Amino acid sequence: MADGKTLVVYYSRKGTTRRVAEEIAAELQCDIEEIVDTKDRSGARGWMGAARDARAKNLAVIEDIKHDPSSYDLVVVGTPVWAWTMSAAIRTYLAENKGRLPEVAFFLTTGGTGMRRTFRQMEELCGKPPVACLGLKARHVRKKDPTKKIKAFVGRLRG
Ligand SMILES: Cc1cc2nc3c(=O)[nH]c(=O)nc-3n(C[C@H](O)[C@H](O)[C@H](O)COP(=O)(O)O)c2cc1C
Repeated sequence: MADGKTLVVYYSRKGTTRRVAEEIAAELQCDIEEIVDTKDRSGARGWMGAARDARAKNLAVIEDIKHDPSSYDLVVVGTPVWAWTMSAAIRTYLAENKGRLPEVAFFLTTGGTGMRRTFRQMEELCGKPPVACLGLKARHVRKKDPTKKIKAFVGRLRG
């Protein structure tokens, strides 16, 4: 799988998911695309709006993407968990690109809850099962000790 062309796509509000995305892309030496949510998600107000949008499964307005997912063999999609589900930006990316997705794999970062539910909802939205999933707790990412798990995940992508 990852011997073919791979794209890592992620959204991150605070940098935790970005860190994992960058490590996966570095391991795979592949393209990476950050999804940019045009809504201001900063501060307490931004947090509340983010939780509300995630809970209601609202779509966001995201900036134009630079990489066409259909020109890859595998797209690895990463999100923070918001209100026990995916971020609004990743929900939007998956909804808008559903018909153009090749094989998929998922990763997420979380305070600790919502992993299985988020993966299940990402799978439902894509309409296809992921080849692999990686869930990491934010505090482990911050401590820089997820590398072993990331390497194992990348190993599964390589088949
Ligand atoms: C709006 C919002 C809702 C969240 N909801 C949850 C949640 O339901 N369960 C959980 O364990 N963590 C939750 N978190 C924590 C994030 O999933 C976690 O901090 C994540 O690593 C943040 O990623 P980022 O730094 O890439 O934005 C939430 C964070 C935000 C901003």
